[in-house]
Amino acid sequence: MLQDLIEARKVHSDGDAVRWGDGGVCNELFAAAIESCPVGITISDATRPSTPLIYVNSAFSGITGYYLQEVVGHNLDFLNGPDTDSAAIRRVAAALRMNEPVDAEILQYRKDGAPFWCEVRMTPLSQDGQAVALIGVHNDITDKRQRRIEDQRRHKLQALGQLAGGVAHEINNLLQPIVTYTDLMLGATQDPDTLRRLHRVMTSAEKARDIVRGILRFSRGEAACLSVTALQPALVEALEFIRGLLPISVAVVVTGLNRDLGHGRISTVELTQVLTNLLNNAAQAMAGRGTVTVEAGLDRIEPAAAAVLGIAPGMVCRVSVADTGPGMDETVLAHVFDPFFTTKPVGLGTGLGLSVVYGIIQDWHGTISVTSAPGQGARFTFSIPCVDSPEGR
Ligand SMILES: Nc1ncnc2c1ncn2[C@@H]1O[C@H](COP(=O)(O)OP(=O)(O)OP(=O)(O)O)[C@@H](O)[C@H]1O
Ligand SMILES: [Mg+2]
Repeated sequence: MLQDLIEARKVHSDGDAVRWGDGGVCNELFAAAIESCPVGITISDATRPSTPLIYVNSAFSGITGYYLQEVVGHNLDFLNGPDTDSAAIRRVAAALRMNEPVDAEILQYRKDGAPFWCEVRMTPLSQDGQAVALIGVHNDITDKRQRRIEDQRRHKLQALGQLAGGVAHEINNLLQPIVTYTDLMLGATQDPDTLRRLHRVMTSAEKARDIVRGILRFSRGEAACLSVTALQPALVEALEFIRGLLPISVAVVVTGLNRDLGHGRISTVELTQVLTNLLNNAAQAMAGRGTVTVEAGLDRIEPAAAAVLGIAPGMVCRVSVADTGPGMDETVLAHVFDPFFTTKPVGLGTGLGLSVVYGIIQDWHGTISVTSAPGQGARFTFSIPCVDSPEGR
């Protein structure tokens, strides 16, 4: 009987060694196969209402940090935590009650408290229509999920860039005669009313041109002149310039800028633009009061991480801008780099700042990411690939 078989295969803990119940060569083989499987495998006793675990393999311990002896007898619930999606858990439980297999992607927590994304597939093992065991297959997909999110973001921004770039290009063409003829008419009239009206046309046309330029930078339709630049002095100079633009009540703490940070193929004008946007956003988020910390350093990007980030492996200069503001929730985080996404009142933000930053850093073959949570500030981190210095070649 299947239930007897499961009963016979319940694990016995013998110090550190884990042995299976009596069985033949076949049982030993199955046990060894499951134990050495690279994915986490669990077996729970479905004959008891609390569905306690009767077995977890080594890969499960590798993923979660929990060993067999400490989890046998417990429901798998111990993996869930504060940000686990309770709706997903209810969906899994409902399927299992119906004796149906179910899969889900759930945020769970390791023994040390670190969160990870787990792809879980639970399959009931039945006999005479009654579930006697639940077989769980658990995969840590944190990196895979991050790669998927980054890919989706890249594709979305690429598509948005193409669309917005096309529109911006057409509008740019239409703006040229508006600006040129308004300028000519301004020089040809003395009438104060006409002058006032023409100035208003000019101001609006210039604003429109700034917006269009921003979109063209985001969509990479307008290439800046890039040159190999020593990054440490360029960052110091850009930060000195921006410091003067921020309210005095915003403290700017700078670390790691007193050493060589290599060279990057960038534009110093754009570097100032990137930092101005990031520091302005931080100052605005903190309502003009708080601390912005700018940290810089050199880092090596290994091939695996490079694949996740979508950049070439090698040395990068990494710069992060962190603030003590209100932070962002998941919804805002998912859209921060989208052109025209803003949470600021009409007239206060165009929502182009970060999309321009994104476009610029893409042009440098670099990468930018953001981490934030409500109430915990925001941290934007960008990386510039290091290149050989002009003298070194
Ligand atoms: N440091 C930050 N803290 C909290 N939210 C931020 C931060 N930086 C950006 N955001 C959010 O991202 C949104 C988009 O930022 P972005 O710089 O692209 O546009 P904006 O600041 O709204 O307008 P502007 O075009 O004037 O820059 C902001 O409206 C805000 O909701
Ligand atoms: Mg902004």
